[in-house]
Amino acid sequence: MTDELRVGVIGLGSVFEPYAESMRRLRAEGRIRVVRTCDVNPERSDAGERLLAEPAPFSTDYSDVISDPRVEAVVILTSMPAHGRITLEALRAGKHVLVEKPMSVEMAGAEAIMEETEKRDSVLMCAPGVVLSPTFQAIWKRVIHQGEIGRIHLARGRYGWSGPDWGQWFYRPGGGPVFDLAVYNITALTGWLGPVRRVTAMAGIAHPRRVVDGEEIEVEVYDNYQILLDFGDAAFGVVTTGFTMERYRSPALELYGSEGTIQMLGDDWAPEGYEMWTNDLGAWAVYEEIDPRWDWTGPLEHLLDVVGGATQLIQPRHAFHVLEIMLAADRAAATGATQDLVSTFDPIAFDVDSIYLSGVAPVHDRRIIRTEEHLREAEG
Ligand SMILES: NC(=O)c1ccc[n+]([C@@H]2O[C@H](COP(=O)([O-])OP(=O)(O)OC[C@H]3O[C@@H](n4cnc5c(N)ncnc54)[C@H](O)[C@@H]3O)[C@@H](O)[C@H]2O)c1
Repeated sequence: MTDELRVGVIGLGSVFEPYAESMRRLRAEGRIRVVRTCDVNPERSDAGERLLAEPAPFSTDYSDVISDPRVEAVVILTSMPAHGRITLEALRAGKHVLVEKPMSVEMAGAEAIMEETEKRDSVLMCAPGVVLSPTFQAIWKRVIHQGEIGRIHLARGRYGWSGPDWGQWFYRPGGGPVFDLAVYNITALTGWLGPVRRVTAMAGIAHPRRVVDGEEIEVEVYDNYQILLDFGDAAFGVVTTGFTMERYRSPALELYGSEGTIQMLGDDWAPEGYEMWTNDLGAWAVYEEIDPRWDWTGPLEHLLDVVGGATQLIQPRHAFHVLEIMLAADRAAATGATQDLVSTFDPIAFDVDSIYLSGVAPVHDRRIIRTEEHLREAEG
């Protein structure tokens, strides 16, 4: 009798390395065993054994993984355009699925996935896992559950970099910085504020040619975006993203409420704590990162937990809504017209009592002198 989940991994590219690290840890804990690996590129045949430190039969055809009766769960780490098809086939074969973002690059495929998953017992886990981070959850508890900064009126997210120099698919239809990067911000902002009603965006191609995998290629999709989100009740968000941002030193996410402001530091996939202004306290307080070891491959462990009976916090309906937002942003940018959305999702079922808020560090507004005691009082 074993609690090990037998997993097949499809796609052994750059992101497989951090996943393999998590898999080795979970294997040592007796929770997972990778029994198959697959990549269309035969040159990746040794990646499984090399990074997992044990043999895992390899094939170049993902059907071999899906049809293998030993495989209970399929982890899909391929380039994005392949996600939808493989996810659907794996669900139809009765497997649990963890799919990297996005679950699909078009709505029809995503609708078929939702239909399949909702009529089965299989678990569908859609990256990214930003809602799992202890810092995300602490902000949720303070702002959404306890209302510490009042009613939220404005929100901001940003995530970008200069762009990958591997994987030409990033610059072709089904790629681009919204599916690759903004997806984190959009998942986090909707995870806090709920579904979006309307989307508009401006986007363009800032770098028409790039060198990728050592070859100069033409960029076929937008690489530079400003996206506007309407949450209803006069609450608006903006997401800045692109393969056009060299560096920044700004919070990943900001929420502006009627009684204060909260900012997640670092990135939403790698938080470095948060800082909060409340009118009551009249000062900024900085909260240290709660769990610096938390990492963005967290959906893998969450899959094991949920298969074992835990409440699922990463909802497929949330990922579906995020996909609708992302596709609407592209349509808005192409047509100049604001897009109405139709999908929605339920609030995330966090266990409020289990969410730790972290100790408060000294106030960093030097004009206001407060003692630790004042801060603890304000903490309640
Ligand atoms: N690179 C990152 O930092 C990062 C971080 C988080 C998530 N992701 C996501 O992870 C996924 C993979 O990204 P990556 O950077 O590893 O890309 P990559 O191009 O390095 O790797 C993708 C791998 O999938 C293989 N592949 C493509 N189609 C396949 C198919 N039909 N069957 C089997 N194998 C197939 C490719 O040969 C390649 O080895 C993407 O969805 C990406 O959005 C990437």
